[in-house]
Amino acid sequence: MDKSTTFTMSIISSTILGSQQVRVGAKQEISLEIAARIDELIRKKAGKGEEVVLGLATGSSPLLIYAELVRRHREEGLSFANVVSFNLDEYEGLEPDHPESYWYFMQEHLFSQVDMRPEAIHLPSDRSDDVEAVALKYEKKIAAAGGLDWQLLGIGRNGHIGFNEPGSARESRTRRIILNEITRSDAAPAFAGIENVPTHAVTMGVSSILGAKEICLIAWGEAKHDIVREAMSGPVTSALPASFLQDHSNVKWYLDCGAAGS
Ligand code: F6R
Repeated sequence: MDKSTTFTMSIISSTILGSQQVRVGAKQEISLEIAARIDELIRKKAGKGEEVVLGLATGSSPLLIYAELVRRHREEGLSFANVVSFNLDEYEGLEPDHPESYWYFMQEHLFSQVDMRPEAIHLPSDRSDDVEAVALKYEKKIAAAGGLDWQLLGIGRNGHIGFNEPGSARESRTRRIILNEITRSDAAPAFAGIENVPTHAVTMGVSSILGAKEICLIAWGEAKHDIVREAMSGPVTSALPASFLQDHSNVKWYLDCGAAGS
């Protein structure tokens, strides 16, 4: 075992809580571990001449993961040519070039820096008037791609995953949703005021997310501790959509010490 392997193993600890696998460590090291898992999935599928279908998230939590993927692309020959991506959500009413649109975020932090095929990138955009048709088409595209191999999730302070706000049903699929006040106030600084934060979004549903073969949820910081604990070990309820992850057999929760409360 080389020195770096020893170092990594000593700072990330692994626990099982019921059916939930939990990895706790420094945000930087955990992000590297997750990027390594994505790298492994991409190369394994590429070796078989297959595409890999990734469900991706925006927000502050995945930034180090995307930075590491870009580094691996530049320095280690990781190609995204066989990647098909589906983002979790998109705000309603923002043009793609709006700096707070999720399209813009993904371009800036990942897509424009790697060799993704433009036609393999999907976001549940609602720029069409017929949001229901857009949502249905999104579900069909995920199914046509063979379903999600791997899904990345952050968690909102109100327990949302994607923009499945409290009250979202276990059976929910991609759809238009009214954003919760906690979600909008958390986004307010980036939009220079809550009045500028969109009131609606389109999000993949809880059921769409649970359809992924493997799920990775990341949470950083003390502000996420209470909601993470409740989601992992409290009742499974639509009042806390992340709690539905307890019903999935292949979820890993990646927490830093603040989120883990350790
Ligand atoms: C983003 C998304 C949201 C975020 C969550 C956490 O695409 O679907 O559920 O993952 O709001 O956001 P951050 O990472 O900014 O704390």
